Amino acid sequence: MIIMDGKKLADKLQEEIAQEVGFLSKQGIIPSLAVILVGNDAASQTYVTMKAQACKKVGITSILHEMPANITQTDLMTMIENLNQNSNIDGILIQLPLPNHIDTNVILESVLPSKDVDGFHTQNSGKLHSGISGFVPATPLGIMSLLKHYAIEIQGKNVVIVGASNIVGKPLSALMLNAGATISICHIHTKDLSLYTKKADIICVAVGKPNLITSDMIKQGAVIIDIGINRLENGKIVGDVDFANVAPLSSMITPVPGGVGPMTIVSLLQNTLKSAQCRLQNHKNK
Ligand code: GUN
Repeated sequence: MIIMDGKKLADKLQEEIAQEVGFLSKQGIIPSLAVILVGNDAASQTYVTMKAQACKKVGITSILHEMPANITQTDLMTMIENLNQNSNIDGILIQLPLPNHIDTNVILESVLPSKDVDGFHTQNSGKLHSGISGFVPATPLGIMSLLKHYAIEIQGKNVVIVGASNIVGKPLSALMLNAGATISICHIHTKDLSLYTKKADIICVAVGKPNLITSDMIKQGAVIIDIGINRLENGKIVGDVDFANVAPLSSMITPVPGGVGPMTIVSLLQNTLKSAQCRLQNHKNK
């Protein structure tokens, strides 16, 4: 059994990104990410801080816009429109979840698709489902990089994804399908989860429920990708998989922390870099 080291791979990728950022900077392009955080959700604040630290490490400028929880949808859209127009900004990230009085879909649709480094605009999700290049959401992108690094074959495999969110489950299913896997997407209404997981060659879980996946639910030799991040009462961070009992049965497994999490962040940096590279190209073409 191999524990897949997302932290180590992310560190290596960060070094490569830093080099590219240096190259762009010499040509007058400083890759820049605008991050919008609405309200004071503790988890969101933690994620935003981690993203800002990672940007700093590779030389990407990140600008945090902290907005009060009672901001109106109109004011939020005006702010996004200003960032859309700002030619020094390569990426716009709106940290989710947004407060209930704001229509998340309307807000995500107001981000210019060419600056949508989260890949949440329907123009980018539509491209993903059609197999056309665009921005791919960071967590699924990071998972695919990790699988590639560990030379895990996807074509012809039975892949089970537990969790059908727009952020992880759905885009991950598109990437896996595009890579030739047979996909099952399980969710809250799935009647017998183990019926699916027992047949899976690769299981990806993004639900947010500690110990959801237990050793009796998996096939010997399966690859386990744990996307859950749960803080237990004792402060310990765990995923959605009963790691101690599932790991010995698996061929490869991601730990939590240190697996998918660091890959998500590095993928956001990759997307921001990609947008800045497009900016340079557009300058040259003028
Ligand atoms: N909230 C939870 N995950 C994410 C993510 O990947 N991007 C954004 N913007 N918000 C999130």
